[in-house]
Amino acid sequence: MRKRIIVLMLFILPTIFFAKEYVSENIEMLSLKNESIGLLYKGTEVKSTENKYTLSGWVMDGNEYIIFYSDKARIKLARIDENFIKNMKVYKIQEDEYGVKWKKVDMNFKLKSPKSLVNNENELWKNEAELYQRCGSCHKTFDFHEYTPNQWPSIIKTMKNNAGYSKKESKEVSVYLQYQSLKGKIK
Ligand code: HEC
Repeated sequence: MRKRIIVLMLFILPTIFFAKEYVSENIEMLSLKNESIGLLYKGTEVKSTENKYTLSGWVMDGNEYIIFYSDKARIKLARIDENFIKNMKVYKIQEDEYGVKWKKVDMNFKLKSPKSLVNNENELWKNEAELYQRCGSCHKTFDFHEYTPNQWPSIIKTMKNNAGYSKKESKEVSVYLQYQSLKGKIK
């Protein structure tokens, strides 16, 4: 019985100490000493404890300033100032099938405006979901899974004028589609 309680605690404890939150607009990242260290992009999931945050992701060897969702899904989570790349903790290094070296990293930071975080992922993309409907005016609206997170950005680049998106809107729809195509796919 006691063993069972301990096992249960192992699962529950991390969810008490770390809350999952999502970035609802691009926000400035600060080091634990309050220096400006980079930009966190909309859609990124962070773990929080009180007013400190942790981000996990993957960086390309030699181009560590962009943190991606994974070595397979190149969704940008954050852009880190060159001077603060050293603040990342590297967990593992592996090579992908094209010979590119990837590092799995963690980074601790604070935020200038923590109010830009939301608990519910579904609150993030209302505007983008509406904008995506425009894509159905000339042909079918493609299912998210028909293209990978790495393909969507270039599709949006070629179709943005067709849909009449501003530069900002096309970036936002692009990221929205990357996350949607991920669901139930590459982890
Ligand atoms: C004004 C009409 C129009 C709108 C709006 C439009 N498209 Fe297209 N789309 C086309 C045409 C025409 C083609 C085929 C010729 C080409 O590739 O340029 C096409 C082709 C495509 C293809 C390639 C299909 C294939 O079979 O290879 C994709 C994917 C696509 N569109 C996605 C989108 C997305 C996403 C949006 C919204 C951002 C969008 N389109 C908005 C006209 C449009």
